[in-house]
Amino acid sequence: MREVLDRRPAVPWFEVHSENYFADGGPALATLERIRAGYPVALHGVGLSLGSTDALDREHLRKLKRLADRIDPALVSEHMCWSSVDGRHFNDLLPLPYNEDALDHVCARVSAVQDHLGRTIAVENVSSYYAFPESTVPEYEFMAAVAERTGARLLVDVNNIYVNARNHGIDPAAYLAAIAPATVAEVHLAGFDDSGPIVIDTHGAPVAPEVWSLYERAIARFGPVPTLIEWDTDIPSFDVLQREAATAQRVLDHAAVAA
Ligand SMILES: [Fe+2]
Repeated sequence: MREVLDRRPAVPWFEVHSENYFADGGPALATLERIRAGYPVALHGVGLSLGSTDALDREHLRKLKRLADRIDPALVSEHMCWSSVDGRHFNDLLPLPYNEDALDHVCARVSAVQDHLGRTIAVENVSSYYAFPESTVPEYEFMAAVAERTGARLLVDVNNIYVNARNHGIDPAAYLAAIAPATVAEVHLAGFDDSGPIVIDTHGAPVAPEVWSLYERAIARFGPVPTLIEWDTDIPSFDVLQREAATAQRVLDHAAVAA
C-alpha cells in the first residue's frame, strides 16, 4: 500500500479483502481511503460464508455495509462457498454440493445479502479439491442459476476454472459456454501449485500459460471485463505484479478493438 501511495502506478483499479477493513477507523482504513481517493476499489469478501447453514452473520453484514458506504466500491463480491458450521470458522473456502437444495439455500442468502447492502453483489466460483456425490448438476450450471435467480453478477475466476477442470475433469469450454456474458462483472487470474497429485490454488505464482490461453477464450466470449491478478502468498515486487496485469490488459485491449 505504501508503494501504491508513493508511486501512484498507472493501474486502473485495486481490490482488497473487505474483512481487513472492518475496524471503525485505524491506519489500515485510513490508508485504504487515501488509495480510494486516487483509484476505484473493489471489495472482495472471504468471510461471509454464503453457503453455510449457520444463520447469516448480521454483524458481519453490518460491518460490510459500513465499509461499502465509506469506500463507495466499484464492486462488492463474495465466494460461492461455505466456511463455517455451528459458529466455527475454517480458514478456507469450502465447496458446496451442486444440487437443488443448495441452490435454493444459497440463492435466498445471496438475495438477503443484496437486500441488506442495497446493492447487487458478485459471487465467485471457488477452486476445490473435493466434489460431493450429492451434486446433481455441474458447477457451472449452478453458478449460472444463482446469477439468473438472484440477479447477482458473477466474478469468474479463470484460474479456478482451470484448477477444477484438472482436479475434477470439468470441460473448461463447457464452463465458459454456460456463463452468460452479461452476468460477468469481473475476472480473476492467479497462479497455482502443480507439484502434487492435485492442483492447488495458491495465489503464489505467475499465471500459468494454460490459464492465459483459457483467459483469452474467456475474454473473447465475455468481452473486456475488468480483470484482477490475485497474488497473496510469496508476494513478488510490485513490478512483477504490474507486468502480469499488463499482460491481462493486452488481452482486454485486443478484445475491445475486436468489439
Ligand atoms: Fe479469485
